[in-house]
Amino acid sequence: MAPLKGLILSGGKGTRLRPITHTSAKQLVPVANRPVLFYGIQAMADAGIEEVGIIIAPETGPEIQEVAGDGSKFGVRITYIVQDEPAGLAHAVLTAEPFLGASPFVMYLGDNLLQGGIQELVSAFEANAPDALILLTPVDDPENFGVAELEDGAVVRLAEKPKEPRTNLALVGVYMFTAGIHDAARAIEPSPRGELEITDAIQHLVDTGKRVEPHVVRGWWKDTGRLADMLEANRLILDVIETRVEGTLTDSVVDGRVVIEEGATLVNATVRGPAVIGAGAHLEDCYVGPYSAIGEGCVVERAEVEHSILLAGSEVRGLDGRMESSLLGRNVKIGRSTRQPRAYRFMVGDNSEIEIL
Ligand code: G1P
Repeated sequence: MAPLKGLILSGGKGTRLRPITHTSAKQLVPVANRPVLFYGIQAMADAGIEEVGIIIAPETGPEIQEVAGDGSKFGVRITYIVQDEPAGLAHAVLTAEPFLGASPFVMYLGDNLLQGGIQELVSAFEANAPDALILLTPVDDPENFGVAELEDGAVVRLAEKPKEPRTNLALVGVYMFTAGIHDAARAIEPSPRGELEITDAIQHLVDTGKRVEPHVVRGWWKDTGRLADMLEANRLILDVIETRVEGTLTDSVVDGRVVIEEGATLVNATVRGPAVIGAGAHLEDCYVGPYSAIGEGCVVERAEVEHSILLAGSEVRGLDGRMESSLLGRNVKIGRSTRQPRAYRFMVGDNSEIEIL
């Protein structure tokens, strides 16, 4: 068998994470201070994959290229492939056909996180040699996903976001294919949402007698498309980080699983993990509580922050109440004003949400 390649889909608009995704690709929103995309690239590297193609959109592609680079920091070679229009996951596969050639490949949706990586799946794929291997997990809202129906352990039917799902088994955004998927992707028609669905292409494999092996995921899986999912992904990753304190602490207390990157300064601060404090951040007279990811160069002063994600360069100062379950974009400033008249003053982007006490 030709060596396995990797294909990461990193296009898409990220509408459910606006306003963050007005200015940045959804795959670059950080989980525990690392872009979510990096976890997928790392999973491929850990499974021994050397050639990784990343599908990018014309708008957000350059930013992704700049952050992920040539892949050398992960030990892989990255080829960027532009998909001109968001015409579906099967369309993305066809766009990548010149890169993939006859190789079998792992396809990984760039905003997905899968506990434990993909090594086990790659081994199953190589041992059993099916035409495709799909990952499934039970969910409470199958109508929001591709849904699979099994009979005697074999895949019999797949439906993309069915109104009345026949099972609760959702298709996880990680798939393994042989080159036969290209013909299947060519054979299908666009779905009601106007996209060439990978779910339909896999159904086509089933219909033409190809072997599609289901694999039920045992660990957790997250599609980080929405704020609640981002916060949960953040919690799951922070729960397993290894404590490392490289910043400077003055009269400060650090409890539990905490990473404090180099150049971060803490003065009279309490950090209760799991939490990560980015390089060059400054924490003073403050409390940072469990499940917080404070980005590079952020400032938290005279404030309490918990269960929140602050992107690089954001500043939070002088809050009376504790801030929680929040996601701040880059260079956001939240603070107290001494100006007259006493008033709330906002300058926030489209689709922002603010709750005050
Ligand atoms: C896509 C697939 C869907 C799958 C989901 C996993 O949905 O079409 O079958 O269950 O990813 O994240 P989308 O994110 O395009 O709505």
